[in-house]
Amino acid sequence: MTSVTPQERAPGGPGGQRKREPARPTREPPGRAGVPTPVVLSGSRAGGLAQRPVDTAMPSAGPLVDTFGRVHDDLRISVTDRCNLRCVYCMPEEGLTFLPRAELLDFEEIVRAAAVAHRLGVRSVRITGGEPLVRRDIVDLVRMLAAVGFADLSLTTNGMGLATLARPLADAGLQRVNVSCDSLQADRYARLRRRGDLHRVLAGMAAAEEAGLAPMKVNVVLLPGENDDEILAFADFARRTGRIVRFIEYMPLDADGAWQPDRVVEGARVVAEISARWPLEEVPGSKVDHAPAERFRFVDGGGEIGVVSSVTQPFCGTCNRLRLTADGSLRNCLFSDDELSVRDVMRSGGSDEDLATVFRRSVWGKAAGHGINAPGFVPPVRSMSMIGG
Ligand code: 5AD
Ligand code: SF4
Repeated sequence: MTSVTPQERAPGGPGGQRKREPARPTREPPGRAGVPTPVVLSGSRAGGLAQRPVDTAMPSAGPLVDTFGRVHDDLRISVTDRCNLRCVYCMPEEGLTFLPRAELLDFEEIVRAAAVAHRLGVRSVRITGGEPLVRRDIVDLVRMLAAVGFADLSLTTNGMGLATLARPLADAGLQRVNVSCDSLQADRYARLRRRGDLHRVLAGMAAAEEAGLAPMKVNVVLLPGENDDEILAFADFARRTGRIVRFIEYMPLDADGAWQPDRVVEGARVVAEISARWPLEEVPGSKVDHAPAERFRFVDGGGEIGVVSSVTQPFCGTCNRLRLTADGSLRNCLFSDDELSVRDVMRSGGSDEDLATVFRRSVWGKAAGHGINAPGFVPPVRSMSMIGG
Protein backbone atom coordinates (compact mmCIF):
# COMPACT_ATOMS: atom_id res chain seq x y z
CA MET A 1 0.00 0.00 0.00
CA THR A 2 1.62 3.20 -1.10
CA SER A 3 -0.86 5.76 0.10
CA VAL A 4 -0.08 8.05 2.99
CA THR A 5 -1.70 6.70 6.12
CA PRO A 6 -3.42 9.06 8.51
CA GLN A 7 -0.77 8.23 11.09
CA GLU A 8 1.88 9.69 8.80
CA ARG A 9 0.00 12.92 8.76
CA ALA A 10 1.18 15.92 10.68
CA PRO A 11 -0.73 16.60 13.92
CA GLY A 12 -4.13 18.16 13.62
CA GLY A 13 -5.58 15.61 11.18
CA PRO A 14 -6.85 16.89 7.87
CA GLY A 15 -7.05 20.38 9.28
CA GLY A 16 -3.37 20.45 10.09
CA GLN A 17 -0.37 20.93 7.87
CA ARG A 18 -0.58 18.58 4.93
CA LYS A 19 2.21 16.37 3.84
CA ARG A 20 3.68 17.92 0.73
CA GLU A 21 4.35 15.28 -1.76
CA PRO A 22 3.30 14.66 -5.31
CA ALA A 23 0.01 12.97 -5.92
CA ARG A 24 0.34 9.32 -6.77
CA PRO A 25 -2.07 6.52 -7.37
CA THR A 26 -3.43 4.62 -4.41
CA ARG A 27 -2.91 0.95 -5.12
CA GLU A 28 -4.92 -0.82 -2.51
CA PRO A 29 -8.09 0.36 -0.85
CA PRO A 30 -7.91 0.14 2.94
CA GLY A 31 -10.20 -2.46 4.38
CA ARG A 32 -11.05 -4.25 1.17
CA ALA A 33 -8.46 -6.98 1.25
CA GLY A 34 -9.86 -9.29 3.88
CA VAL A 35 -9.89 -8.03 7.43
CA PRO A 36 -11.61 -4.67 7.90
CA THR A 37 -9.07 -1.96 8.54
CA PRO A 38 -10.47 0.69 10.82
CA VAL A 39 -9.46 4.09 9.57
CA VAL A 40 -8.03 6.04 12.46
CA LEU A 41 -8.00 9.77 12.14
CA SER A 42 -5.84 11.88 14.36
CA GLY A 43 -7.81 14.72 15.85
CA SER A 44 -10.97 16.30 14.55
CA ARG A 45 -11.95 16.01 10.93
CA ALA A 46 -13.29 19.53 10.94
CA GLY A 47 -10.13 21.41 10.36
CA GLY A 48 -11.19 24.73 8.90
CA LEU A 49 -10.55 23.91 5.26
CA ALA A 50 -11.93 27.28 4.22
CA GLN A 51 -9.35 29.14 6.25
CA ARG A 52 -6.38 27.11 5.15
CA PRO A 53 -4.03 28.76 2.68
CA VAL A 54 -3.82 27.14 -0.73
CA ASP A 55 -1.25 24.38 -0.55
CA THR A 56 1.53 25.09 -3.02
CA ALA A 57 1.70 21.38 -3.83
CA MET A 58 -1.92 21.43 -4.98
CA PRO A 59 -1.99 20.98 -8.75
CA SER A 60 -3.50 23.83 -10.75
CA ALA A 61 -4.08 21.71 -13.84
CA GLY A 62 -5.08 18.15 -14.61
CA PRO A 63 -7.74 16.08 -12.87
CA LEU A 64 -9.16 16.62 -9.39
CA VAL A 65 -6.67 14.80 -7.27
CA ASP A 66 -6.20 14.62 -3.51
CA THR A 67 -3.06 14.24 -1.42
CA PHE A 68 -3.45 10.45 -1.55
CA GLY A 69 -3.56 10.32 -5.33
CA ARG A 70 -7.27 9.62 -5.53
CA VAL A 71 -8.68 11.12 -8.72
CA HIS A 72 -12.21 12.48 -8.36
CA ASP A 73 -14.44 12.12 -11.38
CA ASP A 74 -17.80 11.53 -9.72
CA LEU A 75 -19.96 14.40 -8.47
CA ARG A 76 -23.13 14.01 -6.40
CA ILE A 77 -25.35 17.04 -6.68
CA SER A 78 -28.04 17.47 -4.04
CA VAL A 79 -30.86 19.63 -5.34
CA THR A 80 -32.95 19.87 -2.18
CA ASP A 81 -32.81 18.94 1.49
CA ARG A 82 -36.55 18.28 1.50
CA CYS A 83 -38.22 14.93 1.19
CA ASN A 84 -41.71 13.50 0.99
CA LEU A 85 -40.67 10.57 3.23
CA ARG A 86 -39.14 10.39 6.70
CA CYS A 87 -37.09 7.18 6.70
CA VAL A 88 -36.13 6.12 10.20
CA TYR A 89 -32.42 5.90 9.31
CA CYS A 90 -32.36 9.33 7.71
CA MET A 91 -34.81 12.00 8.88
CA PRO A 92 -36.60 12.71 12.13
CA GLU A 93 -40.35 12.29 12.13
CA GLU A 94 -40.96 15.94 12.96
CA GLY A 95 -39.04 19.09 13.54
CA LEU A 96 -36.53 19.33 10.71
CA THR A 97 -35.94 22.82 9.48
CA PHE A 98 -35.26 23.18 5.80
CA LEU A 99 -33.06 25.53 3.87
CA PRO A 100 -34.72 28.77 2.84
CA ARG A 101 -35.17 28.95 -0.91
CA ALA A 102 -32.74 31.85 -1.32
CA GLU A 103 -29.96 29.67 0.05
CA LEU A 104 -30.46 26.94 -2.53
CA LEU A 105 -28.43 27.06 -5.70
CA ASP A 106 -30.67 27.94 -8.63
CA PHE A 107 -30.47 25.85 -11.80
CA GLU A 108 -28.05 28.22 -13.53
CA GLU A 109 -25.71 28.05 -10.55
CA ILE A 110 -25.91 24.27 -10.36
CA VAL A 111 -25.16 23.91 -14.04
CA ARG A 112 -22.34 26.42 -13.89
CA ALA A 113 -20.69 24.49 -11.06
CA ALA A 114 -21.29 21.21 -12.89
CA ALA A 115 -19.72 22.57 -16.08
CA VAL A 116 -16.63 23.64 -14.15
CA ALA A 117 -16.47 20.16 -12.63
CA HIS A 118 -16.78 18.66 -16.11
CA ARG A 119 -13.81 20.72 -17.27
CA LEU A 120 -11.90 19.36 -14.29
CA GLY A 121 -12.52 15.79 -15.37
CA VAL A 122 -15.79 14.89 -13.67
CA ARG A 123 -17.43 12.25 -15.85
CA SER A 124 -20.27 11.03 -13.73
CA VAL A 125 -23.03 13.06 -12.07
CA ARG A 126 -25.67 11.72 -9.74
CA ILE A 127 -28.56 13.94 -8.72
CA THR A 128 -29.66 13.43 -5.14
CA GLY A 129 -31.54 15.10 -2.29
CA GLY A 130 -33.33 14.87 0.11
CA GLU A 131 -35.64 13.63 -2.56
CA PRO A 132 -34.62 15.20 -5.87
CA LEU A 133 -38.01 14.68 -7.50
CA VAL A 134 -39.64 17.14 -5.08
CA ARG A 135 -37.55 19.99 -6.49
CA ARG A 136 -39.78 21.98 -8.82
CA ASP A 137 -38.92 21.69 -12.53
CA ILE A 138 -36.38 18.94 -11.89
CA VAL A 139 -36.84 17.76 -15.49
CA ASP A 140 -35.53 21.11 -16.74
CA LEU A 141 -32.47 20.76 -14.55
CA VAL A 142 -31.82 17.27 -15.89
CA ARG A 143 -32.03 18.63 -19.43
CA MET A 144 -29.56 21.39 -18.59
CA LEU A 145 -27.15 18.97 -16.91
CA ALA A 146 -27.41 16.50 -19.77
CA ALA A 147 -26.33 19.27 -22.15
CA VAL A 148 -23.03 19.59 -20.26
CA GLY A 149 -22.07 16.21 -21.67
CA PHE A 150 -21.33 13.91 -18.75
CA ALA A 151 -20.66 10.30 -19.66
CA ASP A 152 -23.03 9.18 -16.93
CA LEU A 153 -26.03 11.07 -15.57
CA SER A 154 -28.13 9.34 -12.94
CA LEU A 155 -30.44 10.11 -10.05
CA THR A 156 -31.17 8.56 -6.67
CA THR A 157 -34.81 8.67 -5.66
CA ASN A 158 -37.26 7.15 -3.22
CA GLY A 159 -39.38 6.38 -6.25
CA MET A 160 -42.58 8.03 -5.04
CA GLY A 161 -42.64 10.40 -7.99
CA LEU A 162 -41.20 8.10 -10.61
CA ALA A 163 -44.39 6.77 -12.12
CA THR A 164 -45.18 10.20 -13.55
CA LEU A 165 -41.66 11.57 -14.00
CA ALA A 166 -39.72 8.61 -15.39
CA ARG A 167 -40.57 9.29 -19.03
CA PRO A 168 -39.95 13.06 -18.97
CA LEU A 169 -36.67 12.48 -17.08
CA ALA A 170 -35.50 9.93 -19.62
CA ASP A 171 -36.49 12.22 -22.48
CA ALA A 172 -34.51 15.03 -20.83
CA GLY A 173 -31.35 12.91 -20.91
CA LEU A 174 -31.30 11.04 -17.61
CA GLN A 175 -29.65 7.65 -18.06
CA ARG A 176 -30.26 5.67 -14.88
CA VAL A 177 -31.98 5.73 -11.51
CA ASN A 178 -31.26 4.19 -8.14
CA VAL A 179 -34.47 3.63 -6.22
CA SER A 180 -34.43 3.15 -2.47
CA CYS A 181 -36.80 0.53 -1.15
CA ASP A 182 -36.22 -1.07 2.24
CA SER A 183 -39.01 -3.60 2.42
CA LEU A 184 -41.15 -5.64 0.08
CA GLN A 185 -43.94 -5.74 2.67
CA ALA A 186 -46.26 -2.77 2.35
CA ASP A 187 -46.95 -2.27 6.06
CA ARG A 188 -43.30 -2.55 6.98
CA TYR A 189 -42.28 -0.27 4.14
CA ALA A 190 -44.69 2.34 5.48
CA ARG A 191 -43.25 1.98 8.98
CA LEU A 192 -39.59 2.19 8.00
CA ARG A 193 -40.12 5.09 5.65
CA ARG A 194 -42.81 6.67 7.82
CA ARG A 195 -44.74 7.90 4.81
CA GLY A 196 -44.89 6.47 1.38
CA ASP A 197 -46.44 3.60 -0.42
CA LEU A 198 -44.65 0.48 -1.61
CA HIS A 199 -47.03 -0.08 -4.50
CA ARG A 200 -46.44 3.38 -5.83
CA VAL A 201 -42.68 2.83 -5.67
CA LEU A 202 -42.94 -0.52 -7.45
CA ALA A 203 -45.05 1.16 -10.13
CA GLY A 204 -42.36 3.85 -10.36
CA MET A 205 -39.66 1.22 -10.89
CA ALA A 206 -41.66 -0.36 -13.70
CA ALA A 207 -42.23 3.04 -15.31
CA ALA A 208 -38.53 3.83 -15.11
CA GLU A 209 -37.60 0.61 -16.86
CA GLU A 210 -40.23 1.19 -19.50
CA ALA A 211 -38.72 4.62 -20.11
CA GLY A 212 -35.30 3.02 -20.58
CA LEU A 213 -33.76 4.12 -17.26
CA ALA A 214 -31.72 0.96 -16.90
CA PRO A 215 -29.94 -0.89 -15.43
CA MET A 216 -31.84 -0.07 -12.27
CA LYS A 217 -30.34 -0.35 -8.83
CA VAL A 218 -32.53 -0.80 -5.76
CA ASN A 219 -30.99 0.44 -2.51
CA VAL A 220 -31.88 -1.40 0.68
CA VAL A 221 -30.72 -0.16 4.08
CA LEU A 222 -30.90 -3.13 6.46
CA LEU A 223 -31.77 -2.63 10.12
CA PRO A 224 -31.58 -5.51 12.60
CA GLY A 225 -34.97 -6.72 13.78
CA GLU A 226 -36.71 -4.48 11.25
CA ASN A 227 -36.04 -5.83 7.76
CA ASP A 228 -33.01 -8.10 8.02
CA ASP A 229 -35.33 -11.08 7.61
CA GLU A 230 -35.95 -9.90 4.02
CA ILE A 231 -32.44 -10.54 2.69
CA LEU A 232 -33.55 -13.63 0.76
CA ALA A 233 -36.77 -11.96 -0.37
CA PHE A 234 -34.72 -9.13 -1.87
CA ALA A 235 -32.31 -11.60 -3.47
CA ASP A 236 -35.31 -13.33 -5.02
CA PHE A 237 -36.58 -9.92 -6.17
CA ALA A 238 -33.23 -9.31 -7.88
CA ARG A 239 -33.45 -12.70 -9.58
CA ARG A 240 -37.03 -12.16 -10.73
CA THR A 241 -36.73 -8.56 -11.93
CA GLY A 242 -33.13 -8.24 -13.10
CA ARG A 243 -32.83 -5.13 -10.91
CA ILE A 244 -29.55 -4.88 -9.05
CA VAL A 245 -30.36 -4.95 -5.35
CA ARG A 246 -27.73 -3.24 -3.21
CA PHE A 247 -27.68 -3.81 0.52
CA ILE A 248 -26.31 -0.72 2.23
CA GLU A 249 -24.92 -0.79 5.76
CA TYR A 250 -26.62 1.69 8.07
CA MET A 251 -24.26 4.65 8.51
CA PRO A 252 -24.14 7.22 11.32
CA LEU A 253 -25.88 9.82 9.18
CA ASP A 254 -29.37 9.71 10.66
CA ALA A 255 -30.77 12.98 11.94
CA ASP A 256 -32.07 11.28 15.11
CA GLY A 257 -28.57 10.22 16.16
CA ALA A 258 -29.87 6.70 16.81
CA TRP A 259 -27.06 4.93 14.97
CA GLN A 260 -25.04 2.42 16.99
CA PRO A 261 -22.40 -0.01 15.73
CA ASP A 262 -24.62 -2.94 16.71
CA ARG A 263 -27.37 -1.62 14.40
CA VAL A 264 -25.24 -2.38 11.37
CA VAL A 265 -26.18 -5.49 9.42
CA GLU A 266 -22.85 -6.54 7.95
CA GLY A 267 -22.49 -6.91 4.21
CA ALA A 268 -20.58 -10.15 4.80
CA ARG A 269 -23.62 -11.64 6.52
CA VAL A 270 -25.82 -10.69 3.57
CA VAL A 271 -23.50 -12.41 1.11
CA ALA A 272 -23.26 -15.52 3.30
CA GLU A 273 -27.02 -15.79 3.71
CA ILE A 274 -27.79 -15.37 0.06
CA SER A 275 -25.07 -17.64 -1.23
CA ALA A 276 -26.19 -20.42 1.12
CA ARG A 277 -29.45 -20.42 -0.84
CA TRP A 278 -28.34 -19.30 -4.28
CA PRO A 279 -24.57 -19.55 -4.80
CA LEU A 280 -22.94 -16.24 -5.67
CA GLU A 281 -19.73 -15.35 -7.43
CA GLU A 282 -17.97 -12.04 -7.45
CA VAL A 283 -18.43 -9.98 -10.59
CA PRO A 284 -14.92 -9.79 -12.11
CA GLY A 285 -13.29 -6.43 -11.50
CA SER A 286 -15.82 -5.54 -8.80
CA LYS A 287 -13.15 -4.81 -6.23
CA VAL A 288 -10.99 -2.64 -8.40
CA ASP A 289 -13.54 -0.31 -9.92
CA HIS A 290 -14.70 2.75 -8.02
CA ALA A 291 -18.21 1.55 -7.24
CA PRO A 292 -18.58 1.25 -3.47
CA ALA A 293 -20.65 -1.90 -3.87
CA GLU A 294 -18.99 -5.25 -3.95
CA ARG A 295 -20.86 -6.91 -6.76
CA PHE A 296 -21.96 -10.52 -6.92
CA ARG A 297 -23.88 -12.46 -9.51
CA PHE A 298 -25.86 -15.61 -9.10
CA VAL A 299 -23.88 -18.59 -10.34
CA ASP A 300 -26.98 -19.92 -12.08
CA GLY A 301 -27.16 -16.73 -14.12
CA GLY A 302 -30.17 -15.09 -12.53
CA GLY A 303 -29.16 -11.51 -11.77
CA GLU A 304 -26.89 -9.46 -9.54
CA ILE A 305 -26.69 -8.11 -6.00
CA GLY A 306 -24.28 -5.72 -4.32
CA VAL A 307 -23.25 -4.95 -0.78
CA VAL A 308 -22.15 -1.49 0.24
CA SER A 309 -20.20 -2.20 3.40
CA SER A 310 -19.33 1.40 4.20
CA VAL A 311 -18.92 0.68 7.90
CA THR A 312 -17.33 -2.78 8.11
CA GLN A 313 -15.29 -2.64 4.89
CA PRO A 314 -14.61 1.02 4.19
CA PHE A 315 -13.81 1.75 0.57
CA CYS A 316 -12.31 5.16 1.28
CA GLY A 317 -9.04 4.12 -0.38
CA THR A 318 -10.65 4.18 -3.82
CA CYS A 319 -13.18 6.94 -3.21
CA ASN A 320 -13.60 9.13 -6.28
CA ARG A 321 -16.58 11.17 -5.06
CA LEU A 322 -17.24 14.75 -4.34
CA ARG A 323 -20.52 16.23 -3.20
CA LEU A 324 -22.27 19.52 -3.82
CA THR A 325 -24.96 20.28 -1.24
CA ALA A 326 -28.22 21.96 -2.16
CA ASP A 327 -26.95 25.21 -0.66
CA GLY A 328 -23.84 25.11 -2.77
CA SER A 329 -21.13 23.70 -0.53
CA LEU A 330 -18.58 21.22 -1.71
CA ARG A 331 -18.06 18.31 0.65
CA ASN A 332 -15.25 15.94 0.01
CA CYS A 333 -16.70 13.17 2.19
CA LEU A 334 -20.09 12.28 3.65
CA PHE A 335 -18.43 12.33 7.05
CA SER A 336 -16.43 15.52 6.84
CA ASP A 337 -17.89 18.80 8.00
CA ASP A 338 -15.21 20.63 6.07
CA GLU A 339 -17.17 22.45 3.40
CA LEU A 340 -16.25 25.07 0.84
CA SER A 341 -18.97 27.21 -0.67
CA VAL A 342 -19.12 27.57 -4.43
CA ARG A 343 -22.32 29.55 -3.96
CA ASP A 344 -20.55 32.33 -2.12
CA VAL A 345 -17.87 32.47 -4.80
CA MET A 346 -20.49 32.66 -7.55
CA ARG A 347 -22.64 35.21 -5.76
CA SER A 348 -19.71 37.48 -5.07
CA GLY A 349 -18.77 37.62 -8.75
CA GLY A 350 -16.12 34.90 -8.83
CA SER A 351 -14.88 33.57 -12.17
CA ASP A 352 -14.98 29.98 -13.38
CA GLU A 353 -11.28 29.86 -12.60
CA ASP A 354 -12.10 30.80 -8.99
CA LEU A 355 -14.70 28.05 -8.91
CA ALA A 356 -12.19 25.56 -10.26
CA THR A 357 -9.84 26.49 -7.42
CA VAL A 358 -12.58 25.83 -4.88
CA PHE A 359 -13.10 22.37 -6.39
CA ARG A 360 -9.38 21.68 -6.29
CA ARG A 361 -9.07 22.83 -2.70
CA SER A 362 -12.02 20.76 -1.58
CA VAL A 363 -10.55 17.60 -3.09
CA TRP A 364 -7.03 18.41 -1.91
CA GLY A 365 -8.33 18.74 1.63
CA LYS A 366 -9.86 15.28 1.71
CA ALA A 367 -9.00 13.02 4.65
CA ALA A 368 -7.86 9.42 4.23
CA GLY A 369 -11.08 7.92 5.52
CA HIS A 370 -14.30 8.44 7.39
CA GLY A 371 -13.06 7.22 10.75
CA ILE A 372 -16.38 5.64 11.79
CA ASN A 373 -14.50 2.83 13.51
CA ALA A 374 -12.07 5.11 15.31
CA PRO A 375 -12.47 5.78 19.01
CA GLY A 376 -14.09 9.15 19.57
CA PHE A 377 -15.80 9.19 16.18
CA VAL A 378 -18.25 12.07 15.99
CA PRO A 379 -20.99 11.91 13.33
CA PRO A 380 -21.07 14.86 10.98
CA VAL A 381 -23.26 17.83 11.81
CA ARG A 382 -25.35 17.53 8.67
CA SER A 383 -27.28 14.31 8.28
CA MET A 384 -27.88 12.36 5.06
CA SER A 385 -30.83 14.33 3.69
CA MET A 386 -28.90 17.56 4.13
CA ILE A 387 -25.79 16.29 2.37
CA GLY A 388 -27.05 14.11 -0.43
CA GLY A 389 -26.45 10.37 -0.55
N1 5AD B 1 -27.22 4.90 6.26
C1 5AD B 1 -27.15 4.28 5.06
N2 5AD B 1 -27.82 4.69 3.98
C2 5AD B 1 -28.63 5.75 4.11
N3 5AD B 1 -29.42 6.36 3.23
C3 5AD B 1 -30.01 7.40 3.85
N4 5AD B 1 -29.63 7.46 5.14
C4 5AD B 1 -28.76 6.45 5.32
C5 5AD B 1 -28.02 5.97 6.44
N5 5AD B 1 -28.09 6.57 7.63
C6 5AD B 1 -29.55 5.90 1.84
C7 5AD B 1 -30.93 5.95 1.28
C8 5AD B 1 -30.69 6.07 -0.19
C9 5AD B 1 -29.30 6.60 -0.30
C10 5AD B 1 -29.24 7.91 -0.96
O1 5AD B 1 -28.79 6.72 1.00
O2 5AD B 1 -31.67 4.79 1.52
O3 5AD B 1 -30.75 4.85 -0.84
FE1 SF4 C 1 -36.08 10.92 2.11
FE2 SF4 C 1 -34.14 9.41 1.06
FE3 SF4 C 1 -33.91 10.35 3.55
FE4 SF4 C 1 -35.72 8.49 3.05
S1 SF4 C 1 -33.50 8.26 2.84
S2 SF4 C 1 -36.06 10.37 4.24
S3 SF4 C 1 -36.36 8.98 1.00
S4 SF4 C 1 -33.94 11.56 1.71
